[in-house]
Amino acid sequence: MTTPLTHHTTQTHFLSKPPLNPKPRAFSARVKMSLQQSAPSLAVVGVTGAVGQEFLSVLSDRDFPYSSVKMLASKRSAGKRVAFDGREYTVEELTAESFDGVDIALFSAGGSISKEFGPRAAEKGTIVVDNSSAFRMVEGVPLVIPEVNPEAMRGIKVGKGKGALIANPNCSTIICLMAVTPLHHHAKVKRMVVSTYQAASGAGAAAMEELVQQTREVLAGKPPTCNIFSQQYAFNLFSHNAPITENGYNEEEMKLVKETRKIWNDTEVKVTATCIRVPVMRAHAESVNLQFENPLDENTARELLRKAPGVYIIDDRASNTFPTPLDVSNKDDVAVGRIRRDVSQDGNFGLDIFVCGDQIRKGAALNAVQIAEMLL
Ligand SMILES: NC(=O)c1ccc[n+]([C@@H]2O[C@H](COP(=O)([O-])OP(=O)(O)OC[C@H]3O[C@@H](n4cnc5c(N)ncnc54)[C@H](OP(=O)(O)O)[C@@H]3O)[C@@H](O)[C@H]2O)c1
Repeated sequence: MTTPLTHHTTQTHFLSKPPLNPKPRAFSARVKMSLQQSAPSLAVVGVTGAVGQEFLSVLSDRDFPYSSVKMLASKRSAGKRVAFDGREYTVEELTAESFDGVDIALFSAGGSISKEFGPRAAEKGTIVVDNSSAFRMVEGVPLVIPEVNPEAMRGIKVGKGKGALIANPNCSTIICLMAVTPLHHHAKVKRMVVSTYQAASGAGAAAMEELVQQTREVLAGKPPTCNIFSQQYAFNLFSHNAPITENGYNEEEMKLVKETRKIWNDTEVKVTATCIRVPVMRAHAESVNLQFENPLDENTARELLRKAPGVYIIDDRASNTFPTPLDVSNKDDVAVGRIRRDVSQDGNFGLDIFVCGDQIRKGAALNAVQIAEMLL
């Protein structure tokens, strides 16, 4: 198993291999109320991965209440130690029995693991919040961004003795819809064109290491090692590595199309996307072009975005300062800028915006923990 980026590591500091979850968080002066006997029991599936490690950071940062927590990964990692909330835990191998007595399980071990173990856990009464694409488009499984469509998981609560599956949307969809939904509610999006600039972290901890390794190799004049990606990533960019589907779009692009419709409960909205991997360590960027049914000028859009939860604006034309992946790395909120009228559309029916968000945090772990908070 590869070693993931830890919560406090920034893109510029990620130059040497950090140990797995190296620094147990020191107890702060404030009293932590998260470990409570009456609180739900948790399991983190894929705890050694990029998203799994971020789950631990977010749970701790938000004082998520829990009575116990199981740290689960593959056989390869069984026995490793991980730190959480000032204590050390031993990683256990994921098995069918892992979910006995578990109230909430946060899954991030890939689609095949979710498909194999998610339904079994739900049958045992566990509420599964799944980060993979396994159940996102399954009818009856809520696909939730808490700021956007919390109503989709209405009635699902811990303590009712009933398990459930809840899906976390794709990271690019979450980041995009965090910024676009407030505009959609005001003026109704008819068509959305998304171009993404996606970071290595979206492909997991091993991909981040490969980018570091390739950067060193290329600078040293050596051929880059390509294990995770099939081509040179350092000092390059390429079409997203997701498989290409029959219509010529790759799966990442089609996720943006289909998930937007499900989350907005709008089968009519037209969405197209081009997804690109760029050699950025962490946090995705997205250029979004919008066409509205009703007029929306850029000042009103700015006002709507200013008030939107989980969104902040970086849009200083005078100094040419707009959102960057570094601005949002390790941050909860999504940054929006380049807010401008689309001059190719008549009147105030079109806008262009540029969005950046940490896809391990809001695009994965934070969104899932926010969902878990709504279960309490
Ligand atoms: N990275 C992102 O930004 C992001 C965003 C949204 C969603 N996701 C989704 O989250 C999932 C994990 O992504 P990641 O980026 O965290 O990947 P990662 O860094 O490669 O981590 C994968 C995790 O899955 C575990 N795992 C693999 N095989 C397993 C098995 N047979 N049984 C139990 N655990 C197993 C690994 O454990 P070992 O250490 O034992 O191998 C590791 O903990 C994927 O479904 C991905 O699509 C990722």
